[in-house]
Amino acid sequence: MKSKSGIKRIGILTGGGDCPGLNAVIRGVSKPAHDYGMEVFGIEDGFEGLVQGKARQLYNRDVSGILATGGTILGSSNKGDPFHWPEEVNGEIVIMDKSKAAIRNYEGWKLDALIAIGGDGTMNICQKLSQMGMNIVGVPKTIDNDLEATDQTFGHDSAVYVVSEAIDRLHTTASSHHRVMVVEVMGRYAGWIALHGGLAGGADIILLPEFPFSWKKVYDSVVQRDMMGKRFSIICVAEGAKPEDGQMIVRATDKKRTDPVQLGGIGELVAKKIADETGLETRVTVLGHLQRGGSPTPYDRILSTKFGTYAIELAAKKKFGRMVSLKGSEITSVRIEDAISKQKLVNPSTQAVISAKAVGVSFASDKAE
Ligand code: F6P
Repeated sequence: MKSKSGIKRIGILTGGGDCPGLNAVIRGVSKPAHDYGMEVFGIEDGFEGLVQGKARQLYNRDVSGILATGGTILGSSNKGDPFHWPEEVNGEIVIMDKSKAAIRNYEGWKLDALIAIGGDGTMNICQKLSQMGMNIVGVPKTIDNDLEATDQTFGHDSAVYVVSEAIDRLHTTASSHHRVMVVEVMGRYAGWIALHGGLAGGADIILLPEFPFSWKKVYDSVVQRDMMGKRFSIICVAEGAKPEDGQMIVRATDKKRTDPVQLGGIGELVAKKIADETGLETRVTVLGHLQRGGSPTPYDRILSTKFGTYAIELAAKKKFGRMVSLKGSEITSVRIEDAISKQKLVNPSTQAVISAKAVGVSFASDKAE
């Protein structure tokens, strides 16, 4: 069938950290695009491929059977920002602007539109490329769920599932050995994974970046549980959580990335301080990239498919500069410009916080009140 919309060839890329559901979006975009008679160019390794000219045509056979496959068949990168392109010059990292190379490749491949699947970093790049004349539709991805413009990003549910399952497993060993188990989860500057994963797993204490915690409240909670005869505690701590009188723990910095900060280490500190201050036996588990790997949950497969198919409809209707979004149970779209203006963070009136407190979860923070 010939493309009725005049859109003959689209590009698609996956930017930033991977997450379950990316392939489901690629499939959700490509199958209807082929039905429209469009050609689909898969750009490799995110924006890196757009700058370096790495792309291949995707046919139906390439996107068939990938719905449940984790990762991305296109590859991804969080170092390929065209506006923050790192190059080594005389042993030093120099940051360059390669946006013109990105535009040249887009034009050279004769793309009529680009579907960019990514988180806030990707959407920021999309906004700048849109301003330079590129026709872009964004699809919101991130396990962190920190984009204000959509009720949920795909990938988040799969990460929460991993956390919930891990906490279930930690429960049995914690209760057998009467230990305090600390589990550190991802989420960057937002506490959604810790909040939802902790709630789903029945954690006793949840520590979030949004609610700087009091060490005393943490110690009191675990000691009180011990005195009540509950001889174990589970603490779910977000990698970005910090004490009232402290800072987030930065594990490493990487100048090649637009946001150079890599968080991690707070779980270890929480476990050590509890052991030192209360004498209770503690252990720490850092879930790390397990939260991003593997097959998407059914919820994420469905959301990704809806996002992908909606994105190609937007492109066919030439509604560019927009990002697909979930509002309630409806799929809609917002201007990318508006999507990047605000980060979605947990606050005390978030229903999951209210419900967690109602069932006895401690956030060890006055900020949660
Ligand atoms: O944004 C997704 C995320 O997994 C964060 O939760 C985490 O802080 C970060 O990416 C880890 O990035 P990397 O894979 O580069 O270590």
